[in-house]
Amino acid sequence: MRLILLGPPGAGKGTQADVLAAHYGVPHVSTGDLFRYNLRQGTPVGLEAKGYLDRGVLVADDVTGRMVAERIDREDAAPGFILDGYPRNLAQGEDLEEMLRVRRLHLDRAVAVDVPEDVVLSRITGRRLCPSCGATYHILYSPPAQEGRCDRCGAELLQRPDDRAETVTVRLGVYRDETAPLLAFYRERNLLETVSGLGSVDEVTARIREVLHD
Ligand code: AP5
Repeated sequence: MRLILLGPPGAGKGTQADVLAAHYGVPHVSTGDLFRYNLRQGTPVGLEAKGYLDRGVLVADDVTGRMVAERIDREDAAPGFILDGYPRNLAQGEDLEEMLRVRRLHLDRAVAVDVPEDVVLSRITGRRLCPSCGATYHILYSPPAQEGRCDRCGAELLQRPDDRAETVTVRLGVYRDETAPLLAFYRERNLLETVSGLGSVDEVTARIREVLHD
């Protein structure tokens, strides 16, 4: 299973990618998570990405592409992957095609998770993240058992720095201008499926599995 999840910030791509990765037994490859991991580790990629993440704009395509190529070459991605957050513009869509072509691999589907902006905003402002294990919560829709603490590892939950209102506005603009054209790109290749991202996490998962004929 080689799948791309597309959709605006806060659409629930990461949440769905986690569920689908466990279901299909393939890794969830999130470029946002990879950048945040590199940032915490203080790697050269993390240091380069920091300014872009803080502003809510896209990190350079070559840096991002190298990071993705390195990740999908790992052994655990041999049976496939769920890509979340990549590609993010037309150039990255073409880079990914080339990346897969030279590896003699193909993409099964690109699934766009469609959520209106007002819902996206409420999902993003309520999101809390565990800085230690990466688990994601929402203060209303999927709260932790103990307020402010991660269920999995007990660490204190934080708000992502780029979830501040002014940065979210920039990220939504980047999605409209740079990422949304990928919908036509994958439609032309007969790979695009669109599902509504409204409703519960389980309802959205069921819709995705339905379009994947699973
Ligand atoms: P990234 O981390 O990819 O952020 P994003 O695309 O903006 O997506 P989000 O993580 O905000 O949202 P999501 O759709 O995964 O939603 P989630 O499941 O968390 O990117 C961050 C930055 O990294 C970028 O701005 C850029 O700088 C850089 N970057 C990343 N990729 C790049 C690339 N390819 N090229 C260049 N730069 C790149 O859900 C959101 C909330 O809603 C959560 O609290 C969740 O619990 C809740 N929720 C989820 N589903 C539901 C539901 N059905 N009902 C109710 N609540 C729900």
